[in-house]
Amino acid sequence: MKDLQISTRETDIIIRELEQTFVLDGDVVEFGCYAGDTSVLLAEALKQHPQKWLWLYDSFEGLPEKTAEDSSAAGWRFKKGELKVDAETVAHKFRKLQLPDPVIKKAWFQDLDADNDLPSQICFALLDGDFYESIKTSFALVAPKLVDYGVIVVHDYRNQELPGSARAVNEFLEAHSNYKLRLSSGLAIIEKHPLNVEAQG
Ligand SMILES: C[S@@+](CC[C@H](N)C(=O)[O-])C[C@H]1O[C@@H](n2cnc3c(N)ncnc32)[C@H](O)[C@@H]1O
Repeated sequence: MKDLQISTRETDIIIRELEQTFVLDGDVVEFGCYAGDTSVLLAEALKQHPQKWLWLYDSFEGLPEKTAEDSSAAGWRFKKGELKVDAETVAHKFRKLQLPDPVIKKAWFQDLDADNDLPSQICFALLDGDFYESIKTSFALVAPKLVDYGVIVVHDYRNQELPGSARAVNEFLEAHSNYKLRLSSGLAIIEKHPLNVEAQG
């Protein structure tokens, strides 16, 4: 299995979207950091903004079980326990590159406590938990903390092997009319707009 989970083209887009949010308040989060290869790129971009923290979340136990929403004729890969890596591998990568320490939380997303385990405000979130329940839970944790004009990028939106990602995105958008979707490469880029502007428009 190749180690890089996100293509260079996609990481270029992710970093460009991240940079647009630097004018906003709030920290940066990645749900599903795996070995931290994209995390270090986020951290590199954040270097000029030392007031912003990078928060990384992963089970570090690999993927959970798929649910019915993840079933796909195209997909037999992505099994429970795949993509297991030690949190120390991620921490070591940051030290080696002399990047500021991120906050690393080892937990299943559904066990996270929004008050204690997440920043109070978020300007940018990368959701890369692969499966429907993982992405849905990530949305539920991030959305209440996302500042206006903050951005959520979701990986695998067009990945037919991981249909749960698009399903979770589409459901979220149906329930939240003030979030606007753009597609770029295989990424769903979702921007939060103020609710009152939505009401006037
Ligand atoms: C595709 S990898 C992430 C790749 C990473 N973003 C990158 O760019 O290299 C998906 C990760 O999500 C984690 N994950 C998936 N569902 C999870 C859940 N419900 N709770 C915690 N971690 C989860 C897995 O452990 C795995 O490391």
